[in-house]
Amino acid sequence: MSLFITFEGGEGSGKSSVMKIVAERLEKDGYSIVTSREPGGTPIAEEIRDVILDKKNTAMDPRTEALLYAASRRQHLVEKVWPALKEGKLVLCDRYLDSSLAYQGGARHLGIDEVLSINLFATEGSYPDLTLLFDIEPELGLKRIAANKGREVNRLDLEKLSFHHAVRDAFHTLAKRYPDRYVVIDASQNLDAVVEDAYSAIKSRL
Ligand code: TYD
Repeated sequence: MSLFITFEGGEGSGKSSVMKIVAERLEKDGYSIVTSREPGGTPIAEEIRDVILDKKNTAMDPRTEALLYAASRRQHLVEKVWPALKEGKLVLCDRYLDSSLAYQGGARHLGIDEVLSINLFATEGSYPDLTLLFDIEPELGLKRIAANKGREVNRLDLEKLSFHHAVRDAFHTLAKRYPDRYVVIDASQNLDAVVEDAYSAIKSRL
């Protein structure tokens, strides 16, 4: 059975670490797993990622940013996600469509519906089957990032606190808008508890 599962949330929510652990557990259970991330996941999409996240690109226009994320998304779907789903795999993706709706639509004020419209073109309406929202207070998330010295700081991490609050508010709006595919997870818990919540949300869909 194929399933497209996305991991979403603000900075420092721990979703990437959780995804890695959950993927290993699902593999042990015998599922065939493909993990990936956005922006990126394939060579062309990773090149687009470098342009988007480059700290020197401070002049990037918000619509340019939204279009580049959508372009990277399209390439990643075509080369990696759709083929894996066709082969009956579980695809776990660190960020997808909802990040664009929350960051560009909400926090950059382009509007959720406007950003959705370019993404419907890019994805041909390919929504995830399940979206796990790793919800955390931005203050706590940013504190975790600051403590994690190994993690590279990107252009979006450098935004003001109000930007990260707007991202979180937009994710809450999306969770209400898409209740069938959204599961909200309290990411302020310890890692084991967050992993358990994510794993059981996925298992209940399998
Ligand atoms: P990344 O280093 O992967 O961050 P994280 O570990 O928080 O996932 O960088 C991705 C950044 O891009 C992150 O700040 C969120 C942002 N983003 C958008 O603004 N829109 C999008 O559509 C996507 C996929 C990511």
